[in-house]
Amino acid sequence: MRRFLLLSHRVPPSGSFTLNDLAGGAGRMDEIARAVSTAFTLSNDLRRDTEVAVLFVAEAPPAARRIEMAGARLRHLNPDERSTAALLKNALVGSVRYPADFESSPGLRVGPVDPLPYLAEFLRRPGAIWLSEDGGPLAAWAAPAGELAAVVSDPYDPGSEERAALLASGVPKLSVGPRSLRTSQVIDAVHRELDLREATGGPAAQNAA
Ligand SMILES: C[S@@+](CC[C@H](N)C(=O)[O-])C[C@H]1O[C@@H](n2cnc3c(N)ncnc32)[C@H](O)[C@@H]1O
Repeated sequence: MRRFLLLSHRVPPSGSFTLNDLAGGAGRMDEIARAVSTAFTLSNDLRRDTEVAVLFVAEAPPAARRIEMAGARLRHLNPDERSTAALLKNALVGSVRYPADFESSPGLRVGPVDPLPYLAEFLRRPGAIWLSEDGGPLAAWAAPAGELAAVVSDPYDPGSEERAALLASGVPKLSVGPRSLRTSQVIDAVHRELDLREATGGPAAQNAA
């Protein structure tokens, strides 16, 4: 299973933003939507072996929210950014009226979250890694039994408490390349690396020559 945990620092957890200003007043919801779309979509299919959780931490509990999506059951995820943003917004708005866990649409659960314990639990999953520009090479990392649980941030770096939790977990900090990339580009690079390994039976680097 490939799991991604996205840290969303500025999207209003109440979903109170307009779809017409995703990169502005919506706190970079454009990038979250693009990252979700990139994590799941193939040319003409969805990645059924992928799960994505988004932590919306712009407000502290009880307002903070998390959305969990499972590729095996996900429906209504279209390839465009705006409709993906709408799917997530609908879940967040519904969660204000009904502040317990529920399935907002097939394969998509939403609910309140205490972000730091959730992050700490995610980091205990098999194959947990922290994706960061200044990490060691992902290509040299061996995924235990093909499991991946990757933490990636939105356009804003992890906050001090998140950073402390990431450091305390002891998980490897890994980079997909020397440049600082967009969140969605990082997810693309991770999928490509793991796709190549699955196709060739070994680390992509060994097969590049
Ligand atoms: C747009 S970057 C964050 C902003 C960036 N630190 C900056 O100020 O230029 C979004 C996130 O993608 C991940 N990321 C970006 N480039 C990466 C790379 N080369 N390798 C691994 N992760 C990367 C990190 O999790 C980062 O926080």
